[in-house]
Amino acid sequence: MKIDLSGQRALVTGAATGIGRAIALGLAEAGATVVVNHLRQAGAAAEVVAACGGDALAIDADVSARESVTGLFAQAFAALGGIDILVNNAGIMQVKPFLELTEDDWDRVLNTNLKSMFLCCQAALPGMLARGQGVVINIASELGYLGREHYVPYTASKGGVITLTRSLAREFAPTVRVNAIAPGPTATPMIEAEVAITGNLEVETASPAGRLGQPAEIASSAVFLASAHASFYYGEILSPNGGTLMR
Ligand SMILES: NC(=O)c1ccc[n+]([C@@H]2O[C@H](COP(=O)([O-])OP(=O)(O)OC[C@H]3O[C@@H](n4cnc5c(N)ncnc54)[C@H](O)[C@@H]3O)[C@@H](O)[C@H]2O)c1
Repeated sequence: MKIDLSGQRALVTGAATGIGRAIALGLAEAGATVVVNHLRQAGAAAEVVAACGGDALAIDADVSARESVTGLFAQAFAALGGIDILVNNAGIMQVKPFLELTEDDWDRVLNTNLKSMFLCCQAALPGMLARGQGVVINIASELGYLGREHYVPYTASKGGVITLTRSLAREFAPTVRVNAIAPGPTATPMIEAEVAITGNLEVETASPAGRLGQPAEIASSAVFLASAHASFYYGEILSPNGGTLMR
């Protein structure tokens, strides 16, 4: 199966590291021109841009804030003329007992993981609708189904990503295909930071696969969803997770 995304313009949020980086590289390898969004990680983003090649560019923007998202898309549109593939990947995790959470904790996680998708979709969808096609891919998590003690804002945000995806898929089909990916534990800076807090790598590898996923193993689902091979996929949540959750 050959995947050809040449002529497609993609924007990946939080693409300087981890899964977003792998998705940016995968889309570029398939021929897309990629906007590498990052949050104050100019050095890492520049490396991703160099690896992507072509007309790839990096844009520093906080996707949890309306003004910043407006600037991100204005720059992307000015450089590329439009965005055909939006990958909402940026996210943060917090591990804290529920009764110790502050309102700021809740807002920070929900704004980064879920409100960002509302903002980026509102910025990207009008152009896609005007052109008569587009693809949105949202990065959820298996924890959006499972829930987990001490991860309440994170799991609530990811559950929200799943239903946001399905609702948008219904609202904008058939013109725009909106789908999601719900990865299991994957070897990225996020999981390194998490395990540094919990000290519990065993929980993350207690799956039939018995190991962490690699970012490229998640990115392949995104490249597929972005392509014409996924032309009949609407509101689907692909689950590369090593078998931790079999739906
Ligand atoms: N690693 C895992 O085990 C795992 C599992 C399931 C889902 N996910 C999801 O995958 C996505 C990518 O995470 P990752 O594991 O690659 O970790 P990561 O920390 O490497 O990547 C997250 C990226 O998002 C960026 N980011 C954070 N806040 C931002 C903001 N406000 N604006 C712009 N960028 C911002 C970070 O700078 C970082 O580059 C996240 O949505 C995460 O929840 C990860």
